[in-house]
This record gives sequence, C-alpha cells and structure tokens, in this order.
Amino acid sequence: MSVLRTLPVEVILRRGEEASLKRRLRARDLVGFGIGIIIGTGIFTLAGVEARQHAGPAVTLSFVIGAVVAGLAALCYAELASSVPTAGSAYTYALATVGELFAWIIGWDLLLEFALGAAVVSRGWSGYLANLFDLPPALFGENAVVNVGAVLIIAALTTVAVLGIRQSATFTNALVLVKVAVCVLVLVVGAFFVRRANLVPFLPPAQPAPPGAGTLHQPVVQALLGLTPSVYGVAGMLTAAAVVFFGYTGFEALANLGEETRHPQRDLRIGILGALGVCALLYVGVSLVLTGMADYRTIDPGAPLAAAFNAVHLPWVGALISLGAVAGLTSVMMVELVTIGRIGFAMGRDGLLPPALARVHPRWGTPYRMTVGGAALIAVLAALVPISALADMVSIGALSAMIIVAVAVPVLRRARPELARPFRVPLSPVLPVLTALACLYLMLNLDVLTWLRFAVWLAAGLLIYFGYGYRNSRLAPARHPRRSA
Ligand code: ALA
Repeated sequence: MSVLRTLPVEVILRRGEEASLKRRLRARDLVGFGIGIIIGTGIFTLAGVEARQHAGPAVTLSFVIGAVVAGLAALCYAELASSVPTAGSAYTYALATVGELFAWIIGWDLLLEFALGAAVVSRGWSGYLANLFDLPPALFGENAVVNVGAVLIIAALTTVAVLGIRQSATFTNALVLVKVAVCVLVLVVGAFFVRRANLVPFLPPAQPAPPGAGTLHQPVVQALLGLTPSVYGVAGMLTAAAVVFFGYTGFEALANLGEETRHPQRDLRIGILGALGVCALLYVGVSLVLTGMADYRTIDPGAPLAAAFNAVHLPWVGALISLGAVAGLTSVMMVELVTIGRIGFAMGRDGLLPPALARVHPRWGTPYRMTVGGAALIAVLAALVPISALADMVSIGALSAMIIVAVAVPVLRRARPELARPFRVPLSPVLPVLTALACLYLMLNLDVLTWLRFAVWLAAGLLIYFGYGYRNSRLAPARHPRRSA
C-alpha cells in the first residue's frame, strides 16, 4: 500500500551528513534548550489550577505519573534520536518505519503541539508581563480584542530564531538560568512555610464534579465507562496527571536538532534525558511546596505560586516568581518556534509540504521561510483567539506522537537490527509497548471536547495529505518515472 511507503534509513542518515543546517550545538546547549521548552505554564500555572480543581495535594503524584510517562517516552525518543539523528524527529522515524501516512499524521500532530503551544504561551506571557509592569489589559489581557503583547513577543522571538541556531541557544540558556533559579528559590524559601495541615489528606476523597461541568468536560475514560463526573480521589489525580502532562511536553523538540548537533549520537540522549530529569525533580518539589504552603481549596488559579508567597508576606519572592515566569515562558516560545521550523523543513524536504518552505537561508543556516510562515499563523491565532482553553490540545498532540515513536522502536529493531544504536531502550519490546499504553491511558483522561477538537485537526490533516502530500511526496512514483518504470 503506497500510503505506507517508507524512506530507507540510509537516505535519512546521508541527508543528515549533507545537511544544509549548521552543526553548532553541544550537549549543554541541548540540555538548555530542553529545560527551556519544558518549564513553563505547566508548573507556573497548571500545578495550582489542577490542585484546586481535580487533585488537591495529590497533584504532586500527578506530576510523578507525568514524569514516569514522559520518561518512558523520552527513552524511546533517545534511542531513535541517537541512531537516526535528523530534523523532523518523530515524523522522520515514522517515515522510516511505519510509513508515510503515519509520518504525516505525526508531523501534523507535532505542528499542532508546537504551534498551539506557542500561541497559548504567548497569551500567558502577555498577561504576566501586564501584571509585572502594570500594562493596560485592553492590549495585554486575556480579554483584549487584539492581544498586542502576544504578537510582539512572537515577532521578536521569530527574529532570533531566524538569525541562527547559536543565537537561539545563547538566548535560551540565559532565560533558563533565570527560571531554574526561581524554581530553586521557591523550593528553598517555600519549604519553611509548608504546613502539615495543608497536606492532609494528601488524596482528598472523591466528590461529584460541580454542576455545569457537563459531558464535554468529562474525561473520555469516565464518559466511556458511563461514570458520574467526579473530582479528587484517584480519578481526579489521574485527570490532573493528563492535564499537567502539558508541563513535560516539549522535550521531544530536542530530537529535531539531530542535524544541528555536533555529536548527535551521544549528545541527543544526554540532552533529552538530562533536561527531563532536572525538570521532573523541580516539578515534584515545587508542587509539593505549593500545596504545602496553601490550602488547595483556596489556591489562586491565576498566579498560584506568586500568590502563595504574597500570602505569607513575602511579596518580593512573588515578584521574582513573576519575573521567572516571564523568562520561562519566553524560552518555551523560543524553542517552539525553532522546532516548528525544523519539522516544516523536514516535511517540505520530503514533498509532503511545499518544498519552497524547506529552503534554508544561505547565511543564517536556518529554515527561515517555515519559521516565519509558522510564526505568522501563530501570531494571528494568538492575537485574536482566547485559546488558553486549548492547552489540552498540546498534550493530546504530544501523546499521540509519543505512541507512534514508542511503536517505531521495536519496528525499527526488527527491520534494521544492524543499525548502530548508541542508546537502547531497556527491555524492548516490553517497555515501548508499556510506553504506548501509558500514553494512550493519559490521552483517555483528557476531556471529550479535546478529543473532538483533535478529531477535527486529524480530519483536516488527512484532507491535506490526500489532496497534496500523497501526490507530491518524494516517494510518489510519478515523481520518479524512471525509478518506478
Ligand atoms: N512544557 C511547556 C510548559 O509547561 C509547554 O509551558
């Protein structure tokens, strides 16, 4: 079946060697990029929101579950990234293993994850900035008709992303230092204000969901089993795990930098596993401190961490946290914009998107057209649509791509046992299968509305694939009449 046609690994590796992208990144840049994209809204906002709405203090366990699932997926990414280092990451691995249609779906999901992620985060950034400097909500707030702040930050970061990967790395590393320092500050200072009473009971008993939640906002797994919508308890903690998974999304972006890394076989796995490990420790610690400082029922959903410190009369810590959030969200968007360029570059190179989009700038060495085109769409979306509610779409996009990556590990081992694998997932195929099931289970804990929106996105993607990519792909026989004759 030609929709399942694959691209030989040799072609992918050769292209990587001849790549027009520039090999300028070291292991520590990758760890920086990783932390840069991982720490953001997930810990600065969602931890508090989910403690209050679904999990109580057990939101810490939700972060532990998220870390385990993300860690499993990261092992799979690390194996593929170190044996097939390439731009396009999961999209390209799928093209080499399970076929073009799945590759397209993954690429389409990743574009959703990073584009929507950048749009969601740019609006959050605009709000934090307004908060910090007392800027007019009519231009920077969530209810602005045109969110000027979101557009300005996307435009500024796109300029850096286009100018070069080293510039992006240096800028990201600086921002990462600020936000990691803020997380450590929260841990160290906050630990003195943790009260046992706030953490007991750690897993509040399950309660019926507040009226008005409705089926659309019920986790799919509860709707499928016909359960009454509930919050807290084990089910609430799992719902929170699916939502805060947003906080871990992004580490996959590193796997796109295989053609820009000096020693990809070694450094990509250090980057992916190192960044995720640091973030998981910070997340678990910060969520424990937050729920220990504030009663989960009264956590401020807008700026949970800052509010917790204001409440213990340490407004200077609150102000530093807002500053850390602004820096943190800036680096998330920075890496997301860089990533969109690389995924589009890979898909355009293979003919699934117009090849003109994949052109690399002769001097800057970046896929500037895809970066600017993607950023323009993000800016329009971020300017006009109140999309904070769409954060769950980022998680569903990331989790669905992780399932295909997990499946690709044993498929590639069977198809190409001789390939060099500097890093191997232990216990394959058991661990990759468990990874795919764990990702699916988290997806089922997202709500019905998110699944409906995801289905619409996939349907649009399939229309584009059969209308354009299927015929224009470099693997389509019509494009190589001599080879197919
Ligand atoms: N992981 C990123 C965040 O939490 C997307 O903002």
